[in-house]
Amino acid sequence: MLADQQFLRIPGPSPIPPSVHLAMGNTMIGHRDVEAKSLIEQLRPRLKPIFGTKEEVLILTGSGTAALEMAVVNAVEPGDEVLILVTGSFGDRFAKICQAYGINVHRLDMAWGEAIDTRIVETYLQQNPTLKAVFATYCETSTGVLNPVKELANVVRHHSEALFIVDGVSCVGAVPVQMDNWGIDILVTGSQKAFMLPAGLAFAAASARAWKRIEENNTPRFYLDMKKYRDNINNNTTPFTPALSLLFGLKQVLQLLEKEGLENVFARHKLMMQMTRSAFKAHHINLLTTDESASPTVTAVKPTDFQVEELRKTLKNEFHLSIAGGQQQLKGKIFRIGHMGYCSPADVLQTISIIEMALIRIGKPLELGKGVEAAQKTYLS
Ligand SMILES: Cc1ncc(COP(=O)(O)O)c(C=O)c1O
Repeated sequence: MLADQQFLRIPGPSPIPPSVHLAMGNTMIGHRDVEAKSLIEQLRPRLKPIFGTKEEVLILTGSGTAALEMAVVNAVEPGDEVLILVTGSFGDRFAKICQAYGINVHRLDMAWGEAIDTRIVETYLQQNPTLKAVFATYCETSTGVLNPVKELANVVRHHSEALFIVDGVSCVGAVPVQMDNWGIDILVTGSQKAFMLPAGLAFAAASARAWKRIEENNTPRFYLDMKKYRDNINNNTTPFTPALSLLFGLKQVLQLLEKEGLENVFARHKLMMQMTRSAFKAHHINLLTTDESASPTVTAVKPTDFQVEELRKTLKNEFHLSIAGGQQQLKGKIFRIGHMGYCSPADVLQTISIIEMALIRIGKPLELGKGVEAAQKTYLS
């Protein structure tokens, strides 16, 4: 095997397109110089369609969790009551961040692998009128569920005064989102997933309603103060030194997304999800989620007759293919395949075919090529 060839099929970080690698190698510039301002000026309008908003998309240097924490410290105050919709480990992370800030957390936990049931949320909101915010995860990366964020936004708008805050880290840029039309108040994401960049940039956008709360919020904050980012981006700059190399890369990413067309990008992800799912179904290997709640960016597989970690080890050692395992309560029970960002149907075929060989290696009886064939047929149909 080629020593330096790696197949990265975890749900982030995701592979980086060669042209983005090249762009990130640009000569360094001064972050207060005219070149940096010109770069940010070019990025600003082009991020908005990805979020489905007319609002400014703030750019901060940090990982996705920085953007989650930014949403929390700017939107709610210690003692406020909030509802966290937990469908896996990243909903749980929102709860932990809120608890760290002394926020009064109510949780609605769904079984891991299931999407949020909007009717339960509706009832909960009617019974708890004092909630200041509702937090949800769009794609719950730990389970491969895509939560019904559009419907949830509608429920929150109609049944409470709460802000609706969404973690879109593992799907914004790969799935449709209409922040303004759907009524999302704060939407955040990170750079190392559908944005096809290394980790290091995070993004956040807020509705007019959210900005009013942010202005009135007295929670102590400095690096994560959204007002600072907004005031600076209005002058095409950032409050602190940005990860300039990633901004060079981001410009190229936006070019790639625009060239393919966002609708085509979304369709490609949906197709990769369908191909992946059809392959495992053809082998009668269980999937964690239903078709209806499956995410176009990550598929979780829950086998019953082979060891997940043995498969992952064989894939890594023999084929240099990385897939993810389960987290927390799903550790050792599922594996997760990322198909987002710089990933095509051809990559999916390769991944499935390698997994079939690895399954044979670890002793699972299997008809070679059956999953690949199912994925091919899904593609052609
Ligand atoms: C849905 C979701 N939220 C938040 C995060 C945290 O992002 P980071 O690891 O960049 O801090 C991740 C990362 O996997 C994620 O998938």
